[in-house]
Amino acid sequence: MYVTRTFELPPSASSSVREELQFLPPSKLTVESVSKTFKTRTGPVQALDKVSLQVGEGEFVCLVGASGCGKSTLLNIIAGLEKPDSGTVTADGLRVLEPGRERLVMFQESALFPWLDVLGNVLFGLKMKPHLSNKDRKQVARYYLELVGLTRFERSNIHELSGGMKQRVALARALAPNPRMLLMDEPFAALDALTREQLYGDLQQIWESRRKTIIFVTHNVREAACLGDRVLLFSPHPGRIREEFLIKLPRQRDINSTALAEYASRIMASLKGFKENNGEVAE
Ligand SMILES: Nc1ncnc2c1ncn2[C@@H]1O[C@H](COP(=O)(O)OP(=O)(O)O)[C@@H](O)[C@H]1O
Ligand SMILES: [Mg+2]
Repeated sequence: MYVTRTFELPPSASSSVREELQFLPPSKLTVESVSKTFKTRTGPVQALDKVSLQVGEGEFVCLVGASGCGKSTLLNIIAGLEKPDSGTVTADGLRVLEPGRERLVMFQESALFPWLDVLGNVLFGLKMKPHLSNKDRKQVARYYLELVGLTRFERSNIHELSGGMKQRVALARALAPNPRMLLMDEPFAALDALTREQLYGDLQQIWESRRKTIIFVTHNVREAACLGDRVLLFSPHPGRIREEFLIKLPRQRDINSTALAEYASRIMASLKGFKENNGEVAE
């Protein structure tokens, strides 16, 4: 395990740093009847058709489905990066109309800045915090680097890091502004199985220790069963939520456990059913 939970702030930490690191209540989300159609050169593509869902405070929800069924579109709409044609997204009672630092997104490609070192990348996430001095910012950034297990690498260049380490930096950068909701779009899809396994454990620990609401998109059913309290299944063309599974397994969950494999095979069977009904070809 990379992650340590023993991190303590130095006694010299200012009250602004302590305040910045306080636990904020995780977000509650309501998506109501969201539809979205893209105009393409070959005609309109309906990415989402009247999608509704509710996510409770501190819940870990996974969205699963084949490529092209609208998962990223929904996540981007929840993030406020994209607008729905109709329907609404409400976070903690307020309509989501634009991106905000309450809800941050982490993508498959880490989108780190190669000209900044590891610490610089995490500090970037804190640049919108004018009440913090430079010293305070560094202390906050180091808290999150410790949380993702990268303290020793704070001065490393991005190109010197493995894929898994880059995603850890991206996670620290997304966590640093202390969002109440984390939106993750296939963040581990490009990593090897062993690295992913380590990150599943660490992400569950971080989620438990920092209490965030997480919406996690994946096409990997085992990953979804390992991470989610709830797994929502999408069917494509147009993207719709078709089924939901409650994963009643204790945490920390082991991706290789038999109980988890059973959930994964039930989820997979449902997904295959949607594809056959739609005449789709499996990935
Ligand atoms: N910006 C866009 N312009 C045109 N079509 C798009 C755009 N974004 C997504 N789509 C289309 O919408 C559908 C859903 O895409 P997406 O949300 O990326 O699916 P997923 O994340 O599940 O793979 C796909 O058919 C995709 O080609
Ligand atoms: Mg996608």
